[in-house]
Amino acid sequence: MDATLERIRLAERMSRLGTESAFDVLVRAQELEAQGREIIHLEIGEPDFPTAPHIVEAAVRALHDGWTHYGPSAGLSQLREAVAEDASRRRDISVDPAEVVITPGAKPVMFFTILALVERGDEVLYPNPGFPIYESMINFVHGRPTPYSLPEERDFGIDVGEILAKVTDRTRLVILNSPHNPTGGAVVRADLATLAEALVGRDTFILSDEIYSRLLYEGEHDSIAEFPGMKQRTIILDGFSKTYAMTGWRLGYGIMCPELAQRVARLQTNSNSCTASFIQIAGVEALRGDQACVDHMVEEFRQRRRVIVDGLNRIPGFHCRMPRGAFYAFPNMAGTNHNSKALAAALLEDVGVACLSGTAFGSWGEGYLRFSFANSVENIHKALERIEDWTKTNL
Ligand SMILES: Cc1ncc(COP(=O)(O)O)c(C=O)c1O
Repeated sequence: MDATLERIRLAERMSRLGTESAFDVLVRAQELEAQGREIIHLEIGEPDFPTAPHIVEAAVRALHDGWTHYGPSAGLSQLREAVAEDASRRRDISVDPAEVVITPGAKPVMFFTILALVERGDEVLYPNPGFPIYESMINFVHGRPTPYSLPEERDFGIDVGEILAKVTDRTRLVILNSPHNPTGGAVVRADLATLAEALVGRDTFILSDEIYSRLLYEGEHDSIAEFPGMKQRTIILDGFSKTYAMTGWRLGYGIMCPELAQRVARLQTNSNSCTASFIQIAGVEALRGDQACVDHMVEEFRQRRRVIVDGLNRIPGFHCRMPRGAFYAFPNMAGTNHNSKALAAALLEDVGVACLSGTAFGSWGEGYLRFSFANSVENIHKALERIEDWTKTNL
């Protein structure tokens, strides 16, 4: 470690903050590229499409029109209205603009919700494997992390029995993520109904991470907020990063009861002040403008999904379920007799295929790798060939 860093006396809470190891893999892949190696990037969790021109133009226009100042902490009323309208149309709920908080990217919704609701010792249920920031934030606020599994044999959906067996009087928050990163699984409506019925009478909130809700290849997206009594205890996390290929713009939102929305807006006043105004104006265009860009991207992902899953299933030692949503394949590679981290490292170092170990998403991700199919069909084919060649000499 850097000598200067060692000398700094950090606040104790910093030792409880985790990270996303996806970024470490990207750094190593870039080092190899700097040495002249050709790397196929299947580690990245963002669409490889450009943001649609009508959204870019709306942002440029907004800059020229003077949307260059501070705005309200909860977000511009235009965008809160557009989000409420969009969320009400796409889910079986009625959302009021007062229930919407606009954030720079969707990630702050996790941070703010957990800060606002979870006290020391409160239990928080979250998926393992799952997005690493859930566990990081639970630990940060001294909550008690309580992981639940996503069984492969249930197509990585939830096992409601397991979740309910883990719910106690100290359970303050249950985190759901559907469609799911990293497995591509989606929770089925019947499971949401059972879960909702069991949770409705409790002092428990649900953080429903629905960032991939438009990237679903089979069936309709369901939100737990749609079930009786659940809307007021659910915080829906969604945004523009994945749906509109806008990861670098940093634009997301939370939908929650107005009382909580006011408190979350105050957390925003204390941190970011507000989300960039011209970006929010572009967000209105994204939601109200032509949706063909989303449909086109989903169709592309659907084709690539088939290519990568079929290809992985042909490789000895791999077995891959068809993801229902998001843009990740999560093959079981236990048959290779390698551990996940070692295999991911070997594929990167030996054949230049960057992917993530299942354990980058929690210890129960052992035995799996995550491949993002946010890359061209040509590159996916090339990566599959390289992996197959590698297994011929190394298994
Ligand atoms: C499950 C999940 N939730 C939330 C996010 C964060 O989205 P954003 O980039 O809008 O902050 C991601 C990004 O990878 C994600 O995979």
